[in-house]
Amino acid sequence: MPVVPGKGGLPKVVLSSGEASAELYLHGATLTSWKVGGEELLFVSPKALYAPPKAIRGGVPACFPQFAMLGPLQAQHGFARNTEWQVAEEGAASCRLVLESSEATLAQWPHPFRLEMAVSLHAGGALQQELTVVNTGEQAMEFTAALHTYFSVSDVSNASVVGLKGLQYVDNTSGSTSTDAADVVTFPGEVDRTYIAAPAAIKLRDSGRNSVLLLHKRGFADAVVWNPAEAKAASMGDLGAEHWRGFVCVEAAQARSGAVALAAGQRWSASVEYEYDHLEES
Ligand code: BG6
Repeated sequence: MPVVPGKGGLPKVVLSSGEASAELYLHGATLTSWKVGGEELLFVSPKALYAPPKAIRGGVPACFPQFAMLGPLQAQHGFARNTEWQVAEEGAASCRLVLESSEATLAQWPHPFRLEMAVSLHAGGALQQELTVVNTGEQAMEFTAALHTYFSVSDVSNASVVGLKGLQYVDNTSGSTSTDAADVVTFPGEVDRTYIAAPAAIKLRDSGRNSVLLLHKRGFADAVVWNPAEAKAASMGDLGAEHWRGFVCVEAAQARSGAVALAAGQRWSASVEYEYDHLEES
């Protein structure tokens, strides 16, 4: 598929395969759409700005070389989501974007690198994203990272995240660590948690859509669950008080488990596969 102009004139890649389609902006390697059977499964804020270097609010931006403030940069979630990537390969149902260190990135983080983001559609409409980091410098480097996935939900009160019971998590609003005793994570108010050493499979259920979304991660040690609730959403200009009920972030991350240490010339890859299904009516 060709690269076509998206919102704000920013270039995007459009993928399709059978019943599924996806769109990926070169800005931030941000996946902004994943549809199965015509149903949109990602949330992008109606107030998102398509004005670089601002990151696009929603979809799946790439966080690198740090997740949140877990690293030396002043910029929350690093710079990869604020930077235009290049298309390295493209097919009808898959593509690979790259981002290489530049004067601008070296000014913020003194490590030469090459990033690759591979996105592909698979049987049943499943979507896979793989992030590869190559240390192209001569010194070792350390980084944290995430695929910051905003899933669309019918209403946040219908959403529950399954698979995290019994895990330790850091509450990012307070910095305190707890063990999750609940069967599922729900969203009665602001939830901002990093689950440490989360399992490969995590589910997001939506009782309003009678659906389940399965994330299967590999290589990312942690999982972040986030919804800002009304007050914080209202303070975010590109989200606003009206839209926070429409999404839940369940993110594959390399965060509180510790940074990845990559020797000169080495590469690290981590991936997530997303599958979507409607549940049988009960
Ligand atoms: C989440 C973090 O991953 O991203 C939250 O856990 C943060 O603490 C959220 O508020 C959004 O971050 P940003 O920089 O896109 O506003």
